[in-house]
Amino acid sequence: MIAVEQNVFHSFLTKHDEKQWAEVLGRLLSSIHPVDQIATKIWFSFWPLKLARELQESTDAVQTAKRLQLDGNYRLDEQVDSSVDYFLGSRFWGGVKKAILEHAESMTRAASAGLEEQIRGIAAKVARDKSVEDRFVLGITAVGVMIFQQVRIAAFAAAAQGSYQIKNHQSPEQLLKSRLGKEGGWRAMFGGKKKHRVTFDESRQEGSFQALEGQDLSMASSCDKRDFQSQDRRRIAGPVPAECRSGACGYCWIGVLGGHENLSDAADFEKKRLHYFGYVPRDVAVGKHSHIRLACQSKCYGDVTIVIPPWNGVLDGGK
Ligand code: FES
Repeated sequence: MIAVEQNVFHSFLTKHDEKQWAEVLGRLLSSIHPVDQIATKIWFSFWPLKLARELQESTDAVQTAKRLQLDGNYRLDEQVDSSVDYFLGSRFWGGVKKAILEHAESMTRAASAGLEEQIRGIAAKVARDKSVEDRFVLGITAVGVMIFQQVRIAAFAAAAQGSYQIKNHQSPEQLLKSRLGKEGGWRAMFGGKKKHRVTFDESRQEGSFQALEGQDLSMASSCDKRDFQSQDRRRIAGPVPAECRSGACGYCWIGVLGGHENLSDAADFEKKRLHYFGYVPRDVAVGKHSHIRLACQSKCYGDVTIVIPPWNGVLDGGK
Protein backbone atom coordinates (compact mmCIF):
# COMPACT_ATOMS: atom_id res chain seq x y z
CA MET A 1 0.00 0.00 0.00
CA ILE A 2 1.29 3.46 -0.87
CA ALA A 3 1.85 5.22 2.44
CA VAL A 4 3.18 8.60 1.37
CA GLU A 5 1.67 11.40 -0.65
CA GLN A 6 4.57 11.42 -3.08
CA ASN A 7 5.08 8.58 -5.45
CA VAL A 8 7.04 8.23 -8.71
CA PHE A 9 3.92 7.67 -10.82
CA HIS A 10 2.10 10.54 -9.13
CA SER A 11 5.11 12.86 -9.68
CA PHE A 12 5.22 11.76 -13.32
CA LEU A 13 1.52 12.61 -13.72
CA THR A 14 1.76 16.04 -12.11
CA LYS A 15 4.13 17.10 -14.91
CA HIS A 16 1.23 16.78 -17.35
CA ASP A 17 -0.99 19.79 -18.00
CA GLU A 18 -4.39 20.07 -19.66
CA LYS A 19 -2.89 20.45 -23.14
CA GLN A 20 -0.82 17.27 -22.83
CA TRP A 21 -3.80 15.37 -21.46
CA ALA A 22 -5.99 16.63 -24.33
CA GLU A 23 -3.42 15.33 -26.83
CA VAL A 24 -3.29 11.91 -25.14
CA LEU A 25 -7.08 11.75 -24.98
CA GLY A 26 -7.32 12.66 -28.64
CA ARG A 27 -5.12 9.68 -29.52
CA LEU A 28 -6.95 7.27 -27.18
CA LEU A 29 -10.53 8.09 -28.19
CA SER A 30 -10.74 5.97 -31.34
CA SER A 31 -9.54 2.92 -29.36
CA ILE A 32 -12.32 3.31 -26.74
CA HIS A 33 -15.57 1.40 -27.29
CA PRO A 34 -18.18 3.77 -28.84
CA VAL A 35 -20.43 3.37 -25.79
CA ASP A 36 -17.82 5.10 -23.60
CA GLN A 37 -16.22 7.55 -26.06
CA ILE A 38 -18.53 10.48 -25.29
CA ALA A 39 -18.74 9.47 -21.62
CA THR A 40 -14.95 9.86 -21.46
CA LYS A 41 -15.07 13.28 -23.13
CA ILE A 42 -17.80 14.39 -20.73
CA TRP A 43 -15.86 13.22 -17.67
CA PHE A 44 -12.77 15.18 -18.70
CA SER A 45 -14.94 18.29 -19.19
CA PHE A 46 -16.67 17.83 -15.83
CA TRP A 47 -13.37 17.46 -13.96
CA PRO A 48 -10.81 19.83 -15.48
CA LEU A 49 -7.27 19.91 -14.09
CA LYS A 50 -7.67 23.66 -13.70
CA LEU A 51 -10.29 23.15 -10.99
CA ALA A 52 -8.17 20.57 -9.15
CA ARG A 53 -5.09 22.81 -9.25
CA GLU A 54 -6.98 25.89 -8.06
CA LEU A 55 -8.22 23.88 -5.06
CA GLN A 56 -4.85 22.24 -4.33
CA GLU A 57 -2.92 25.51 -4.49
CA SER A 58 -5.42 27.46 -2.44
CA THR A 59 -4.48 28.63 1.04
CA ASP A 60 -8.02 29.83 1.67
CA ALA A 61 -10.58 27.33 0.37
CA VAL A 62 -13.55 29.60 1.14
CA GLN A 63 -12.05 32.54 -0.77
CA THR A 64 -11.14 30.32 -3.73
CA ALA A 65 -14.67 28.92 -3.91
CA LYS A 66 -16.00 32.47 -3.78
CA ARG A 67 -13.65 33.72 -6.48
CA LEU A 68 -14.56 30.85 -8.80
CA GLN A 69 -18.25 31.13 -7.84
CA LEU A 70 -18.29 27.41 -7.07
CA ASP A 71 -21.52 25.79 -5.99
CA GLY A 72 -22.58 22.17 -5.45
CA ASN A 73 -20.05 19.44 -4.68
CA TYR A 74 -16.88 20.35 -6.57
CA ARG A 75 -14.59 18.02 -4.55
CA LEU A 76 -13.63 15.08 -6.74
CA ASP A 77 -12.00 13.30 -3.79
CA GLU A 78 -15.47 13.01 -2.20
CA GLN A 79 -17.02 11.39 -5.26
CA VAL A 80 -14.33 9.28 -6.89
CA ASP A 81 -16.78 6.43 -7.48
CA SER A 82 -19.97 8.30 -8.32
CA SER A 83 -18.14 10.40 -10.93
CA VAL A 84 -17.93 7.31 -13.19
CA ASP A 85 -21.44 5.89 -12.69
CA TYR A 86 -22.52 6.60 -16.29
CA PHE A 87 -19.68 4.61 -17.89
CA LEU A 88 -20.29 1.14 -19.25
CA GLY A 89 -16.73 0.51 -18.05
CA SER A 90 -17.82 1.29 -14.47
CA ARG A 91 -18.58 -2.43 -14.09
CA PHE A 92 -14.78 -2.90 -14.14
CA TRP A 93 -14.06 0.13 -11.94
CA GLY A 94 -12.91 -1.90 -8.93
CA GLY A 95 -10.31 -3.66 -11.08
CA VAL A 96 -9.22 -0.39 -12.71
CA LYS A 97 -8.58 1.31 -9.37
CA LYS A 98 -6.64 -1.71 -8.12
CA ALA A 99 -4.52 -1.87 -11.30
CA ILE A 100 -3.69 1.85 -11.10
CA LEU A 101 -2.58 1.49 -7.48
CA GLU A 102 -0.46 -1.57 -8.33
CA HIS A 103 1.08 0.32 -11.25
CA ALA A 104 1.91 3.24 -8.92
CA GLU A 105 3.34 0.93 -6.26
CA SER A 106 5.53 -0.95 -8.71
CA MET A 107 7.08 2.16 -10.24
CA THR A 108 10.32 2.89 -8.38
CA ARG A 109 12.03 5.09 -10.94
CA ALA A 110 11.00 7.33 -13.80
CA ALA A 111 9.40 5.27 -16.54
CA SER A 112 10.57 5.50 -20.11
CA ALA A 113 6.99 4.99 -21.33
CA GLY A 114 4.82 8.05 -21.93
CA LEU A 115 1.39 8.73 -20.43
CA GLU A 116 -0.56 7.19 -23.32
CA GLU A 117 1.51 4.02 -23.27
CA GLN A 118 1.09 3.63 -19.51
CA ILE A 119 -2.69 4.11 -19.68
CA ARG A 120 -2.91 1.53 -22.47
CA GLY A 121 -0.72 -0.84 -20.42
CA ILE A 122 -2.90 -0.56 -17.30
CA ALA A 123 -6.07 -1.00 -19.38
CA ALA A 124 -4.63 -4.09 -21.08
CA LYS A 125 -3.90 -5.65 -17.69
CA VAL A 126 -7.46 -4.99 -16.46
CA ALA A 127 -8.88 -6.36 -19.71
CA ARG A 128 -6.82 -9.55 -19.34
CA ASP A 129 -7.89 -9.98 -15.71
CA LYS A 130 -11.55 -9.47 -16.57
CA SER A 131 -11.46 -11.32 -19.90
CA VAL A 132 -12.86 -8.41 -21.89
CA GLU A 133 -11.56 -6.41 -24.83
CA ASP A 134 -9.27 -3.45 -24.01
CA ARG A 135 -11.72 -1.01 -25.60
CA PHE A 136 -14.25 -1.64 -22.82
CA VAL A 137 -11.85 -0.47 -20.08
CA LEU A 138 -9.61 2.05 -21.87
CA GLY A 139 -11.82 5.11 -21.32
CA ILE A 140 -12.41 4.46 -17.66
CA THR A 141 -8.71 3.67 -17.16
CA ALA A 142 -7.78 7.10 -18.59
CA VAL A 143 -10.31 8.60 -16.18
CA GLY A 144 -8.87 6.59 -13.27
CA VAL A 145 -5.34 7.81 -14.01
CA MET A 146 -6.58 11.41 -14.15
CA ILE A 147 -8.35 10.91 -10.80
CA PHE A 148 -5.10 9.52 -9.37
CA GLN A 149 -3.38 12.72 -10.54
CA GLN A 150 -6.07 15.01 -9.13
CA VAL A 151 -6.89 13.60 -5.70
CA ARG A 152 -4.64 12.77 -2.79
CA ILE A 153 -3.17 9.28 -3.04
CA ALA A 154 -4.77 8.39 0.29
CA ALA A 155 -8.20 9.36 -1.06
CA PHE A 156 -7.68 7.22 -4.16
CA ALA A 157 -6.44 4.28 -2.09
CA ALA A 158 -9.46 4.58 0.22
CA ALA A 159 -11.78 4.54 -2.79
CA ALA A 160 -9.91 1.51 -4.17
CA GLN A 161 -10.47 -0.39 -0.94
CA GLY A 162 -14.21 0.23 -0.85
CA SER A 163 -16.56 -1.85 -2.95
CA TYR A 164 -18.16 -0.25 -6.00
CA GLN A 165 -21.82 -0.90 -6.62
CA ILE A 166 -22.48 -1.25 -10.34
CA LYS A 167 -25.40 1.01 -11.29
CA ASN A 168 -26.13 -0.01 -14.85
CA HIS A 169 -26.22 -3.59 -16.13
CA GLN A 170 -27.41 -2.92 -19.68
CA SER A 171 -25.37 -4.31 -22.56
CA PRO A 172 -23.32 -1.97 -24.77
CA GLU A 173 -25.78 -2.59 -27.60
CA GLN A 174 -28.79 -1.70 -25.40
CA LEU A 175 -27.10 1.48 -24.19
CA LEU A 176 -26.06 2.60 -27.66
CA LYS A 177 -29.55 1.93 -29.00
CA SER A 178 -31.30 3.84 -26.23
CA ARG A 179 -28.87 6.75 -26.60
CA LEU A 180 -29.53 7.01 -30.32
CA GLY A 181 -32.33 9.38 -29.44
CA LYS A 182 -34.89 8.66 -32.08
CA GLU A 183 -36.60 11.65 -33.59
CA GLY A 184 -40.33 11.92 -33.57
CA GLY A 185 -41.67 11.51 -30.05
CA TRP A 186 -45.30 11.01 -29.25
CA ARG A 187 -48.17 13.46 -29.21
CA ALA A 188 -49.84 14.37 -25.97
CA MET A 189 -53.46 13.35 -25.91
CA PHE A 190 -54.54 16.96 -25.43
CA GLY A 191 -52.84 19.92 -27.03
CA GLY A 192 -51.18 17.89 -29.78
CA LYS A 193 -47.56 18.86 -28.99
CA LYS A 194 -44.95 16.18 -29.39
CA LYS A 195 -43.22 14.98 -26.23
CA HIS A 196 -39.71 13.62 -25.95
CA ARG A 197 -37.83 11.71 -23.29
CA VAL A 198 -34.83 13.30 -21.55
CA THR A 199 -32.93 10.61 -19.67
CA PHE A 200 -30.64 11.87 -16.91
CA ASP A 201 -30.00 8.55 -15.14
CA GLU A 202 -29.89 5.44 -17.34
CA SER A 203 -29.66 3.13 -14.36
CA ARG A 204 -33.19 3.86 -13.11
CA GLN A 205 -36.56 3.38 -14.75
CA GLU A 206 -37.66 6.71 -13.34
CA GLY A 207 -34.46 8.54 -14.38
CA SER A 208 -36.05 10.70 -17.06
CA PHE A 209 -38.39 13.65 -17.58
CA GLN A 210 -40.44 14.80 -20.55
CA ALA A 211 -39.81 17.74 -22.85
CA LEU A 212 -42.32 19.28 -25.22
CA GLU A 213 -41.24 19.80 -28.82
CA GLY A 214 -39.07 22.94 -28.94
CA GLN A 215 -38.98 23.37 -25.15
CA ASP A 216 -35.59 24.09 -23.62
CA LEU A 217 -34.22 21.39 -21.32
CA SER A 218 -34.12 23.68 -18.29
CA MET A 219 -37.81 24.58 -18.57
CA ALA A 220 -38.70 20.94 -19.26
CA SER A 221 -36.74 19.85 -16.18
CA SER A 222 -38.56 22.39 -14.01
CA CYS A 223 -41.88 20.71 -14.91
CA ASP A 224 -40.68 17.56 -13.14
CA LYS A 225 -42.17 18.11 -9.68
CA ARG A 226 -40.40 15.28 -7.87
CA ASP A 227 -38.03 16.15 -5.03
CA PHE A 228 -34.44 16.51 -6.19
CA GLN A 229 -33.35 19.23 -3.80
CA SER A 230 -32.85 16.80 -0.93
CA GLN A 231 -30.01 15.24 -3.01
CA ASP A 232 -28.54 18.53 -4.27
CA ARG A 233 -29.72 21.90 -2.97
CA ARG A 234 -29.03 23.50 -6.39
CA ARG A 235 -31.88 21.42 -7.83
CA ILE A 236 -34.61 23.86 -6.89
CA ALA A 237 -37.05 22.67 -9.56
CA GLY A 238 -36.42 19.41 -11.37
CA PRO A 239 -33.21 17.41 -11.74
CA VAL A 240 -31.24 20.05 -13.69
CA PRO A 241 -29.98 22.92 -11.50
CA ALA A 242 -30.95 26.38 -12.78
CA GLU A 243 -31.02 29.97 -11.61
CA CYS A 244 -31.32 32.43 -14.48
CA ARG A 245 -32.58 30.43 -17.49
CA SER A 246 -30.87 33.00 -19.70
CA GLY A 247 -27.27 31.76 -20.03
CA ALA A 248 -26.01 34.05 -17.25
CA CYS A 249 -25.34 31.81 -14.24
CA GLY A 250 -23.80 28.55 -15.55
CA TYR A 251 -25.81 26.36 -13.15
CA CYS A 252 -27.49 24.34 -15.89
CA TRP A 253 -24.49 22.87 -17.72
CA ILE A 254 -24.92 19.28 -18.80
CA GLY A 255 -23.07 16.54 -20.67
CA VAL A 256 -24.91 15.07 -23.67
CA LEU A 257 -24.38 11.32 -23.91
CA GLY A 258 -26.77 10.70 -26.79
CA GLY A 259 -29.26 12.44 -29.08
CA HIS A 260 -26.99 15.46 -29.73
CA GLU A 261 -28.69 16.22 -33.01
CA ASN A 262 -32.11 16.28 -31.35
CA LEU A 263 -31.10 19.49 -29.60
CA SER A 264 -31.07 22.91 -31.26
CA ASP A 265 -27.66 23.90 -32.55
CA ALA A 266 -25.48 25.74 -30.04
CA ALA A 267 -25.72 29.43 -30.97
CA ASP A 268 -22.78 31.87 -30.75
CA PHE A 269 -24.11 33.22 -27.43
CA GLU A 270 -24.11 29.75 -25.82
CA LYS A 271 -20.64 28.99 -27.21
CA LYS A 272 -19.30 32.23 -25.71
CA ARG A 273 -20.89 31.46 -22.35
CA LEU A 274 -19.40 27.91 -22.28
CA HIS A 275 -15.97 29.50 -22.77
CA TYR A 276 -16.68 32.19 -20.17
CA PHE A 277 -17.62 29.63 -17.50
CA GLY A 278 -14.55 27.58 -18.43
CA TYR A 279 -16.68 24.49 -19.17
CA VAL A 280 -14.97 24.38 -22.56
CA PRO A 281 -11.40 25.76 -22.75
CA ARG A 282 -11.05 28.88 -24.90
CA ASP A 283 -8.64 27.18 -27.27
CA VAL A 284 -11.24 24.46 -28.02
CA ALA A 285 -14.02 25.31 -30.49
CA VAL A 286 -17.56 24.53 -29.33
CA GLY A 287 -19.34 22.52 -32.01
CA LYS A 288 -23.02 23.01 -32.80
CA HIS A 289 -23.67 19.53 -31.31
CA SER A 290 -21.16 19.84 -28.47
CA HIS A 291 -21.03 17.18 -25.74
CA ILE A 292 -21.25 20.07 -23.22
CA ARG A 293 -24.32 22.32 -23.35
CA LEU A 294 -26.31 24.79 -21.27
CA ALA A 295 -29.73 23.22 -20.67
CA CYS A 296 -31.48 26.61 -20.77
CA GLN A 297 -30.11 27.24 -24.27
CA SER A 298 -30.85 23.77 -25.70
CA LYS A 299 -34.25 23.21 -27.26
CA CYS A 300 -35.47 19.65 -27.53
CA TYR A 301 -36.66 18.00 -30.78
CA GLY A 302 -36.18 14.31 -29.94
CA ASP A 303 -35.07 11.97 -27.16
CA VAL A 304 -31.76 12.82 -25.47
CA THR A 305 -29.59 11.29 -22.77
CA ILE A 306 -27.74 13.69 -20.51
CA VAL A 307 -25.43 13.67 -17.48
CA ILE A 308 -25.78 16.35 -14.80
CA PRO A 309 -22.52 17.49 -13.14
CA PRO A 310 -22.55 17.92 -9.34
CA TRP A 311 -21.02 21.42 -9.39
CA ASN A 312 -20.92 24.68 -11.32
CA GLY A 313 -18.71 27.72 -11.30
CA VAL A 314 -16.85 30.30 -13.35
CA LEU A 315 -13.37 28.92 -13.96
CA ASP A 316 -12.42 31.32 -16.71
CA GLY A 317 -14.42 34.44 -16.02
CA GLY A 318 -13.44 36.28 -19.17
CA LYS A 319 -9.68 36.15 -18.60
S1 FES B 1 -29.92 28.49 -15.94
FE1 FES B 1 -28.40 30.02 -15.83
S2 FES B 1 -27.11 29.55 -17.52
FE2 FES B 1 -28.77 28.20 -17.75
